[in-house]
Amino acid sequence: AGDGTDMIEPVIGVIGGSGLYEIDGLEDREWRQIETPWGAPSDALLFGRLAGVRCVFLPRHGRGHPIPPSRLNYRANIDAMKRAGVTDIISLSAVGSLKAELPPGHFVLVDQFIDRSFAREKSFFDTGCVAHVSMADPVCRRMGDTLEAQARGLGFDVTRGGTYLVMEGPQFSTRAESELYRSWGCSVIGMTNMPEAKLAREAEICYATVAMVTDFDCWHTEHDSVSVDAVVKVMQGNADRARALVRAAIPRLGQRRGACEAGCDRALEHALITAPDR
Ligand code: ADE
Repeated sequence: AGDGTDMIEPVIGVIGGSGLYEIDGLEDREWRQIETPWGAPSDALLFGRLAGVRCVFLPRHGRGHPIPPSRLNYRANIDAMKRAGVTDIISLSAVGSLKAELPPGHFVLVDQFIDRSFAREKSFFDTGCVAHVSMADPVCRRMGDTLEAQARGLGFDVTRGGTYLVMEGPQFSTRAESELYRSWGCSVIGMTNMPEAKLAREAEICYATVAMVTDFDCWHTEHDSVSVDAVVKVMQGNADRARALVRAAIPRLGQRRGACEAGCDRALEHALITAPDR
């Protein structure tokens, strides 16, 4: 990239709870409805600039009429981000903890997923042509490096690496399921990051999850009498920290750069694509 011809100006996408976009310093705000061939995304997208970096926010469950995890149009959400020019997605996600050392309020920059969801559309390649992208490393290492450095700089309790178990929901796990996932070595459990990460990879968008612990799921017997007040307090704290992290990370992630060193933006180059039968 010596002559700068293949340098890009990244556009940072953020998918998270409604309210995550109430970020100081976000300028030129504009909500825009984006149409996709897959239908409508969860909501309009909020376009803006932070420290000169273009960014796009999508409330994962929509504003106003919340959409449950099984009913999200994941393909429309990721396709809308792609159409908005997004190169890097920060996925902010509330999760339950499956490990004693990851208490409520802790952030986990997971690097693996186990996808136990089943009632969702998971691919853009379900008609016409077939592509098999690699999901061996589902999270962008380059983004993870930046998010980790910024989270540590802000003094947050953060763990780099871990496995996020994606369950279908909407009910929480049984105790037997929770213990099963613990025996698999999983760190956290949530309901949304698959198929998001798979679709981002197919769309050649870098993707990194900030998993924000809200509870100990149901395995931690000493924590089953947690109060609603405590949960609300944890979620408020997580939202405040998430906004601070996004605000710190966007100016770094948005710096002009060459191709992603982790290769996420070239995922289809290495995918097996079969021409339709003729
Ligand atoms: N999201 C937040 N906490 C969760 C849990 N315990 N299980 C699944 N999803 C969650």
